[in-house]
Amino acid sequence: MPRNAKEWAGVPDLPADHFISSEVYRDEGIFRDEQRLLLEKTWKFACHESEVEQVGDYRTLSFCGLPLVVIRGEDNRIRTFVNVCSHRSAELVRAPRGNARRMVCFFHLWAYDTYGNCVNQTRDIGYEEAGPKKEACGLRSIRTEVNCGLVFITLDDDAETLESFLADSLDTLREALTAEPLELFHYHSFKVRANWKQWHETNMELYHEWGHVVNRQQGLNSPGYHDRRISIGKNGHLSLPPYRVSYSNIPGWEDRDSNNFPGLAPGEIRAVDLFPNTSIIIRGTAMRIDTSTPISPSLTLMEFRGLGLKSDTPEVRAERIRNHNQYWGPFGRTQPEDGFFIESVEQGNRHAAQYSIISRRENLGAHDDAALRGYYAEWSRHMGRPAGDPKGNVSAEGPGK
Ligand code: FES
Ligand SMILES: [Fe+2]
Repeated sequence: MPRNAKEWAGVPDLPADHFISSEVYRDEGIFRDEQRLLLEKTWKFACHESEVEQVGDYRTLSFCGLPLVVIRGEDNRIRTFVNVCSHRSAELVRAPRGNARRMVCFFHLWAYDTYGNCVNQTRDIGYEEAGPKKEACGLRSIRTEVNCGLVFITLDDDAETLESFLADSLDTLREALTAEPLELFHYHSFKVRANWKQWHETNMELYHEWGHVVNRQQGLNSPGYHDRRISIGKNGHLSLPPYRVSYSNIPGWEDRDSNNFPGLAPGEIRAVDLFPNTSIIIRGTAMRIDTSTPISPSLTLMEFRGLGLKSDTPEVRAERIRNHNQYWGPFGRTQPEDGFFIESVEQGNRHAAQYSIISRRENLGAHDDAALRGYYAEWSRHMGRPAGDPKGNVSAEGPGK
């Protein structure tokens, strides 16, 4: 039955953690609080270690408004610094990636080594009277740790260790990530006109596979699809149990019988969604890592990586790239559709919707919304407010149950 305006805006007659207020996606104040209370406090995936393989290799990124540079030091350790010169705040490293034993600022040519020390103040005689000495002009260091080849950063100097934050979340991927050196073979990014949480939600929420034409033909029909049980771990991380998929029922596609990642059966899918915004998915022969950078409540930079084994022959690598791109390239069968889904949801949340329903229960099967409820339990823990009522607007009568 259609609902009138009052009914449409009414609080869903559901348990309090079974719906999300649209304010969570559109409110500027909540977005600012997310940066301060959540994103700056947790660990953020920055890159794979193979992207900074050699001493001096660097890549830049931006997070929570901070320009950052990740660089492998002379001691082989990967570090991250705020990418701003200590002198008069010019951007220090100006290329997206490269190699530098010294990072030289293009403005007045101050220079920094790979440890973040200031090693040159041009015509330093000028600082002899008043200072500062170059020893006091190091770059701002950002905590950086590597786990299973994945480089993470946190803006919180007092955050728990990365190992504690990840807990056992990578267990199902550990062999695939570590048995052999991996290598990045694919990177693309785009800005999506949607809230930053939406992409991650879509990765966690397998019910949306009904929206993907190729998944209706393939994954949803695979034996055991609904027999899997999702597991929600510490700190809001989610692990999806492995299952095997046949690809050969798609015209022109082959089954992924060989060259699967270490530890995976042929054609097996494994996936982990790390709170708050990184997903690692393996479809037999190809690995994908998604991560996002929130820009505004309704604009998000998405980054996508594809990885293979460093030992790949050219033929095997070509197969991995082909398999990766079938689903996940910019013209793959599912990734563009995910962008359309969440941009559509953004419009609804911004202009019309009051609540999003996450009430599915299927005994923790693939289409159980427990994944989203677990995510928002963690979100609420950081934010100090429930996702169903983030502004305390719900009347005393509140939700029905
Ligand atoms: S701002 Fe970098 S050297 Fe002056
Ligand atoms: Fe999808």
